[in-house]
Amino acid sequence: MQEEIKLMLMARFPLLWIVSPEEETAEEALCAVAIAKKAQIYFWDFARGFSDSGAAKGNPMQALDRVVKASPEVTAIFVMKDIATLIAPGANGQISSGQLPIVREIKNLAREIACDRRMLVILSDQLRLPAELREETTVVDFSLPTIDEISELVDRLVEDKIKLVGKSQEQLLKACQGLTRCRISRVLAKCLARSGKVDETSIDAVIEEKRQTIRETGILEFIPVQMGLESVGGLENLKAWVKVRSHSFSDKAREYGLPSPKGLLLAGIQGTGKSLSAKTIAAEWKLPLLRLDVGRLFGGIVGESESRVRQVIKLAEAIAPCVLMIDECDKAFGNINSGGDGDSGTSRRVFGSLLTWMQEKTSPVFIVMTANNVEILPAELLRKGRLDELFFIQLPNQSERKQIFQVHLERLRPGRCGNRQSDFDLGMLAAASKDFSGAEIEQVIYEGMQQGFSRGEDFTQADVLTAIHYCVPLAQIAQPQIEALKAWAVRSGAKSASFEYSEIHQPQVQMLKVDSSEDSNERLTLKKIHKMLRVDRDE
Ligand SMILES: Nc1ncnc2c1ncn2[C@@H]1O[C@H](COP(=O)(O)OP(=O)(O)O)[C@@H](O)[C@H]1O
Ligand SMILES: [Mg+2]
Repeated sequence: MQEEIKLMLMARFPLLWIVSPEEETAEEALCAVAIAKKAQIYFWDFARGFSDSGAAKGNPMQALDRVVKASPEVTAIFVMKDIATLIAPGANGQISSGQLPIVREIKNLAREIACDRRMLVILSDQLRLPAELREETTVVDFSLPTIDEISELVDRLVEDKIKLVGKSQEQLLKACQGLTRCRISRVLAKCLARSGKVDETSIDAVIEEKRQTIRETGILEFIPVQMGLESVGGLENLKAWVKVRSHSFSDKAREYGLPSPKGLLLAGIQGTGKSLSAKTIAAEWKLPLLRLDVGRLFGGIVGESESRVRQVIKLAEAIAPCVLMIDECDKAFGNINSGGDGDSGTSRRVFGSLLTWMQEKTSPVFIVMTANNVEILPAELLRKGRLDELFFIQLPNQSERKQIFQVHLERLRPGRCGNRQSDFDLGMLAAASKDFSGAEIEQVIYEGMQQGFSRGEDFTQADVLTAIHYCVPLAQIAQPQIEALKAWAVRSGAKSASFEYSEIHQPQVQMLKVDSSEDSNERLTLKKIHKMLRVDRDE
């Protein structure tokens, strides 16, 4: 981070906007840069004015005037602390006429000092950049502490009172990832105050603190995961894909030279187990799961979305390796290209920064996107390089339904799926529930349980069959959506998550594109491959 700022100072960037939830840490870094580069540094805040003289107290225009009057020949950094709040755009994304003079002066200044040795830094905990300054501003995100920095901090804070060694110490440090230095200090201080030491129980306290941080974002959620892939019926292709990559996030995989998997898209109609699969992937890989609420990302105050998406990225990267589930992304990104977003392009910009991150991220954040309505998904989302694979999930076939019944019945009534008279006949249940989704299968089981419970006895095969009889599966009205999904799968080269469909779409073939450039859709067919192989052999 310091290096980055040093470079910007040398390259004479006029205006930096540093986003840091921790003012003190950012100030320290800026001071270190100033010392290293023999630059003068001045801090201004609204209440106390400039830190060296107390001048321009409560007067941002006067504060900016000092920058105007400073010598262009002297390397100097002017750090403005509350200006960000003073110029934050309102709910409509616009600045008010009262804010205009400050924004205008910053813009003028940015242009004036562009080629000299002065640099203006706006320090803020959020990025709420007025559109007027977008061109002139370079945004620097102050990262959360790395694991090494955390280790140092913990050592300094608790010294010999730490009662953790080896693995559990590592767990503590990992749990701290994603927390600001300030929060780490606070939670450890609390542990010390309570018991005079930092031990196993502190790990829970830290995790709770992290949950709180994540909750405060309002759009990220920490989802506890317990159930592994065994709790998903069917979807064998998807499961195989996941299993092969079980250790892809390990140090060993890095040493081997494997890049971390990037992400998946799971597309399918409602209730087919997309969200469930996302959760079980995290469990299978033993990674924490974060769920991003994209709907809320775009809701709320315009302009805040951009700030929030940066915050999400920062948190996810700090917590990595982790799985980030972007559930029902069609709802948020579906209309992005239709131009009807009416919020001065905020959605597009947020979407753009997400895409850029997906493309460029090197941190092991595995993204699982789910979508019900693939038709409306913007094509750029699905371009190679952003995700590893697209999977489409169909309604479960007979044998998959059998497995889904088994998963749920075994969970609810262990040992009652055998061959005894009172047992459930999975084959018959599967046959009776044609066109049912996984969610509907779960639903009819609960319905059957209600019946049994109301009679005061355990529920039976007949109860479930009756429930099936009265249930109208969504598939019957969602036929157009199902057809659209199939057509999309062929068009986009998505793989089937289930085993049987894979033969139809020949998933192996799609990887052997003749030309991977975007506009070339020509693919090798199996026939062509066979022909090529034969030619090779003949030669
Ligand atoms: N393949 C499946 N195997 C087991 N349970 C399933 C399956 N598909 C769906 N379910 C059940 O239905 C519930 C809802 O599924 P969900 O993953 O939320 O569907 P989607 O996200 O595709 O709309 C799950 O919690 C699970 O209990
Ligand atoms: Mg879902």
